[in-house]
Amino acid sequence: MNGGFRPRVGVILGSGLGAVADAIQNPVVIGYEELPGFPRPTVAGHAGQVVQGLIAGVPVAILQGRAHLYEGGPIDELRAPVRWLKAAGAEILVQTNAAGSLRAEVGPGRLMAITDHINLTGTNVLIGPNDDSIGPRFPSMGQAYDPALLSQLRAAAAQLGIPLAEGVYTGWSGPAFETAAEIRAIRILGGDAVGMSTVHETIVARHCGLRVAAISAITNLAEGMGEVPLSHEQTLADAARAAEDLVRLLVAFIAALATD
Ligand code: HPA
Repeated sequence: MNGGFRPRVGVILGSGLGAVADAIQNPVVIGYEELPGFPRPTVAGHAGQVVQGLIAGVPVAILQGRAHLYEGGPIDELRAPVRWLKAAGAEILVQTNAAGSLRAEVGPGRLMAITDHINLTGTNVLIGPNDDSIGPRFPSMGQAYDPALLSQLRAAAAQLGIPLAEGVYTGWSGPAFETAAEIRAIRILGGDAVGMSTVHETIVARHCGLRVAAISAITNLAEGMGEVPLSHEQTLADAARAAEDLVRLLVAFIAALATD
């Protein structure tokens, strides 16, 4: 189903972060239209293709583009890509996203490793009949973000001299950004960053037994904290600023997997 290529690591890239795929040597590209159940991304900054190949000798499949709840498509578009990675042989899912920061000291252009999440999207991607051959009806979300992978991210960032914040990512359905009052509520709940993706794919990944690591590229201070009005254009511009560090961090992280 995948030309015999067996990725060890699957990477889902967030808005404006497609440059990570440029790190693959001799990439083989598959359009999402060839893959059953995959979304047709409708949002600028999301390409809609899988780029496969080696990064530092480690077989990876990079998914450029993801479905979001706010696009209103079939919920299976959030499940199919993650389950496809699992079926193709992946052990690890790495996710990146663009997010707003609730911590003033972690501003635009910074990276934050996700230690845990709060799903405030109002739904759960596993609602519906459960396929027991994929995973259990009631999967645990304990250690949803793999502690060993988190330490490896930390080590790679330290080696490169990239400051890496750590915190709780809050999933928000969008498409409207949060109000300032909602941001104050999220802060009280324990959120450090907020964005419109990631939590669903993490749930699907844990359900089918993939280990998860995730990094937010901070594109703005959350509503009510900064001067710049929030917009998708602003998200893409600041994602590009963080992308350079993110590419270096992901490549070092994946390269370190070759030896463990
Ligand atoms: N809120 C929600 N999603 C986002 C934000 C934000 O402030 N920034 C980038 N994605």
